[in-house]
Amino acid sequence: MSQEKIEKNVGLLIVCTLLAVLWGGLVEILPLFFQESTTTATLKDEAGNQLDVKPYDAVALAGREVFIREGCYNCHSQMIRPFRAETERYGHYSVAAESRYDHPFQWGSKRTGPDLARVGGRYSTEWHRTHLRNPRDVVVESNMPAYSWLKDARAKDTVGRNIDAKLAALTLVGVPYTKEDIDGAKAAIGDLTEEDVLIEYLQGLGTLLSNFR
Ligand code: HEC
Repeated sequence: MSQEKIEKNVGLLIVCTLLAVLWGGLVEILPLFFQESTTTATLKDEAGNQLDVKPYDAVALAGREVFIREGCYNCHSQMIRPFRAETERYGHYSVAAESRYDHPFQWGSKRTGPDLARVGGRYSTEWHRTHLRNPRDVVVESNMPAYSWLKDARAKDTVGRNIDAKLAALTLVGVPYTKEDIDGAKAAIGDLTEEDVLIEYLQGLGTLLSNFR
């Protein structure tokens, strides 16, 4: 069958296009469902040591809620792509298993600010406090907005109010929280501010693979 025939027959063209897209999708996507690196929660570092992906604890999960609520993802991605320019700046590229317990994931594609996938441990907690209250105090040319009200809001009144129910809900999609995790969630939040829980979340980002840096 000649190409001309297909191009001149809309019905045939649609069918052939669909088949090509379907086949491409199958070849690209199907293997991921069976590949160890995407289906298991464990990763291996370069020395062959097992690294376990751990779910966020209650405090970090509450911090993640602040991150999502404030729309930090509008300026910050959390996915380091496997290009030299990225790995030199941010560290090892992101791998699928790292996002295993992210519901929803925060990969993003907009980078007004830097990628945050491995920001954990890069700065001190004090740096983050100063930066969140007024970014210009630590990075003069920054155009990141100030989030100065987070230090005055108690997490237990907002993102932490039903944190135990959130943990319980996440177990339904496969996050392995135990009964103790769920029962202790509210106590873990205690009197922490929204700023405290957000920083706890940021400081945990990418720490799993930090020895790859
Ligand atoms: C309007 C865009 C914008 C928004 C919204 C934004 N940021 Fe930023 N962020 C930036 C820019 C630009 C920088 C780089 C300059 C700086 O460090 O302040 C940055 C830097 C950072 C850094 C330091 C990263 C590094 O590797 O140096 C952290 C951490 C951070 N932002 C966290 C947050 C959090 C948390 C939120 C939400 C509460 C947020 N950002 C919202 C633009 C933004």
